[in-house]
Amino acid sequence: MNYQAEVEQFITLMSLAEKIGQMTQVEKNSITPEDVKNYAIGSVLSGGGGAPKTNTPLAWREMVNEFQQAALKSRLKIPLLYGVDAVHGHNNVIGATIFPHNIGLGATRDPKLVEQIARATAREILATGIHWNFAPCVAVPQDIRWGRTYEGYGADSGLVAELGAAFVRGTQQGEGGGLSHPQAALATVKHYLGDGGAGWGTAPRFGANWAPDLFGDPQRPHGIDQGITDCDEETLRAVHLPPYIAAIQAGVRAIMVSYSTWGGKKMHAQQYLLTEILKKELGFAGFLVSDWAAIDQINPQNYSESVITAINAGVDMVMVPWDFRRFITTLTDAVINGAVSQTRIDDAVRRILRVKLELDLFSRPMGEEAFLDSVGGATHRALARDAVRRSMVLIKNDGVLPITRETPLLVAGVAADDLGLQCGGWTIDWQGRRGCPTLGTTLVDALHQSRCNFHFHPQGDLPTDPNATALVVLAEPPYAEGIGDRADLRLPPADRELLERVRPRCRKLVVILYSGRPLSLGGQLPLMDALVAAWLPGTEGVGVTDVLFGDYPFSEVSPFPWPDQF
Ligand code: BGC
Ligand code: BGC
Repeated sequence: MNYQAEVEQFITLMSLAEKIGQMTQVEKNSITPEDVKNYAIGSVLSGGGGAPKTNTPLAWREMVNEFQQAALKSRLKIPLLYGVDAVHGHNNVIGATIFPHNIGLGATRDPKLVEQIARATAREILATGIHWNFAPCVAVPQDIRWGRTYEGYGADSGLVAELGAAFVRGTQQGEGGGLSHPQAALATVKHYLGDGGAGWGTAPRFGANWAPDLFGDPQRPHGIDQGITDCDEETLRAVHLPPYIAAIQAGVRAIMVSYSTWGGKKMHAQQYLLTEILKKELGFAGFLVSDWAAIDQINPQNYSESVITAINAGVDMVMVPWDFRRFITTLTDAVINGAVSQTRIDDAVRRILRVKLELDLFSRPMGEEAFLDSVGGATHRALARDAVRRSMVLIKNDGVLPITRETPLLVAGVAADDLGLQCGGWTIDWQGRRGCPTLGTTLVDALHQSRCNFHFHPQGDLPTDPNATALVVLAEPPYAEGIGDRADLRLPPADRELLERVRPRCRKLVVILYSGRPLSLGGQLPLMDALVAAWLPGTEGVGVTDVLFGDYPFSEVSPFPWPDQF
């Protein structure tokens, strides 16, 4: 069904202000429910960490539904699409199931599993009233120094295409098929196009409009994130486009545009890539949403030019973190003075309304209260545990793994008992958080459950036991986006010292690594009898012990090649 009659009826009834309202997506802290009604706003989002004051599933539901109720009181009663980054489970919500980040799912190479995870995640967001997930990220990261490497399924575009499409199907089809299914939510493939191809040293130095507290430091080196993808069109199509083709075939209805630059132009300004290729050549029928304050970067000195360029290039909905009134006034002026045509506005609005109709948002605007029990529920946690088992890659093993439950164990490393490190970025906070941000099971909790014989000391102050196997758990600190760009992927001195300290106290030494990418461990490798890449497994640490004790096999193939010196 294409809902043409319904869409055309709305177009006839709507004022210019109502049309522009539908094209506006506002961060929830920058708008009140009253404004949503008065401006006929089309979408509200929670950014990373954008929780209500009390971070419980029920409080989320109340917050989202308050905005929704306001939208339903607007003149035309068009429901709101509330969007969130549920990139490894409903990860802003305390108590939600946190699945492995995409890099770990890439190691499983299993589209069925990814589809199930997407479905479970859709259920958890719908429980909180949310119908729109800004996932999956289908970046094809080409340089593991990039802070978003772990958001990609792997370095190979075929693998990314297969798993990305699986996530779209899981999110959108529910169990019966079709967006209107009560268990379906809207998926978003991101970030179009070539975000994974940006080169080291090309990241922009961020202006005041983009996380000034984090990026204001002029000493920060230019990394990769939001940088320049320097390749010809053939390479762009061969490496970065396949996941979008697969997702469109799978029925995706939202695509988020990338902050990056190609051919000397910001992606948000690329009429050729957004309109000619995506909408015309590939027949994409959904709508394009811009990234967080991303259109502002087109011309940081001239907001009006930025808005005009982005909308004319093909952006249909604009993500406005702060001043939505300024966006609305600017776009309204641009239409009145002819810089943006009425036809372009109508096209954008048709696309947005069609998706709202396809989602059946008009008859199920509040999500699904009955799903609240499934948020962090046993079934979803069991699925996450299975995903953890299957994502663990054995990088080195000199006959020590698997270990038996009778082996005396010495366990070292803060990360062995730190759920935040185990989950990584995009967990409760945008950047993630050390310690215990949510409910879950660390490796130490899992060892307690398995009733094996172990000593744990975070700094490795352990008794010497010539029969013992040591488990040294190392982790990257949590990070998201450009904050995670890192020139040097070697272990920090404290981790190297920990290995040196534990080595003489045991017979065999096993390293379990929580990281968003392969690291350069060449120098330390001789100290290890085995090395396990556990990626960022999430809340279900028992999945790690399931594999260590040999109840399940390791995965053999890393989604990213390890650095040369390895
Ligand atoms: C990220 C997107 C995310 C958006 C909303 C941006 O900074 O690049 O991936 O969907 O924020 O949180
Ligand atoms: C938000 C993120 C967003 C980022 C971009 C953060 O404050 O929480 O969602 O991606 O800002 O600046």
